[in-house]
Amino acid sequence: MSTLFDRHDLAGLALRNRIVMAPMTRSRAVTTVPDALTATYYAQRAGAGLIVTEGAQVSEQGRGYLFTPGLHSKAQVAGWKDVTAAVHAEGGAIFAQIWHVGRLSHTSLQPGERAPVGPVARAAAGVQAFAFREDGTPGQMPVSVPRALAAAELPGITADFVEAARNAIEAGFDGVEIHGANGYLFEQFVNGGLNTRDDAYGGAEIANRLRFVLETVDAVAAAIGSARVGIRLSPFNRIFDMPAFEGEAETWLALAQALSTRGLAYVHISNRGAIVDTVGEDFLRAFRNAYGGTLVLAGNYTRDSAEADLEAGLADLVAFGRPFIANPDLVERLRNDWPLAEGDSATFYGGGAAGYVDYPAYRA
Ligand SMILES: Cc1cc2nc3c(=O)[nH]c(=O)nc-3n(C[C@H](O)[C@H](O)[C@H](O)COP(=O)(O)O)c2cc1C
Repeated sequence: MSTLFDRHDLAGLALRNRIVMAPMTRSRAVTTVPDALTATYYAQRAGAGLIVTEGAQVSEQGRGYLFTPGLHSKAQVAGWKDVTAAVHAEGGAIFAQIWHVGRLSHTSLQPGERAPVGPVARAAAGVQAFAFREDGTPGQMPVSVPRALAAAELPGITADFVEAARNAIEAGFDGVEIHGANGYLFEQFVNGGLNTRDDAYGGAEIANRLRFVLETVDAVAAAIGSARVGIRLSPFNRIFDMPAFEGEAETWLALAQALSTRGLAYVHISNRGAIVDTVGEDFLRAFRNAYGGTLVLAGNYTRDSAEADLEAGLADLVAFGRPFIANPDLVERLRNDWPLAEGDSATFYGGGAAGYVDYPAYRA
């Protein structure tokens, strides 16, 4: 029987357990450059089999929030070097999540205060971006109406992902996770309710809606090696105004199959609970059957539910998000059945050391 504390061979990278630290935006990079606090934060959590960092934007256009780090400048690469060195010094493994928010941005964050971009010119209703208010102070602003990307612009965005992936390797990361989840750029293209384009990158044809993400996966894999590339998805996601659409299960299963042939490090599903609530566990099983590689699941796990999914063969690795915020030694706490501390959601995003690097390891 496999357990959470077994080792796992991630396409040649030895993980010391099957617990992944899920990517979590913490909004501490005031200048978009990760600093010494960030290095401390991740090093404290290096007991995870694999850390996936918070989303790091691949370009200024890809940014949707103030104070999130990037992976497109020399200064950012230098900052991340200290992070990966600190994690590796603790014996951990770390992938960078590379991110383009697409339409989920505000003009005050965009180069030249231009409109953010998406598959179509439709804003996400009721969604706020953490951006600049009219008076120039940081605050919540409704996301702006995006501009529909021309097909000719898509290779440029793919190239930004390739560059960010190369930067990640230069910065010492063990690999990258392409952010294809949670209503951001790639999911905006995959979603048939939103992506009503009438060109080769959208519309009723599933293959058209998958084209952009698969082209990007292939380009990144060609640049750094497929074994160093993971991707995160959130089938049936409804956050950030993502609509239900016809052929939704078929779309995601087609993507699972297409990814299966590409020799990736892993596919990571971010929203286990929401999937089970919407379409039931059968979908997870079907996805599992369609995707032949390492599958990571995330969403509301406890030690018991994580063990149950590994035992049932639903997942190879299990990701914990929020529990890692207040429990830097989460793996040891799970292993020993020690109690978990509760994180303070007021300090999840933004601020400094408080609620970031000051959660202690367990002491009996
Ligand atoms: C503070 C916070 C920030 C997050 N930021 C990201 C992110 O940058 N990228 C991402 O893919 N998911 C992000 N997520 C989602 C988590 O990775 C995870 O899927 C979710 O929290 C469910 O896992 P949990 O129940 O163990 O927390 C974030 C979640 C939280 C709580």
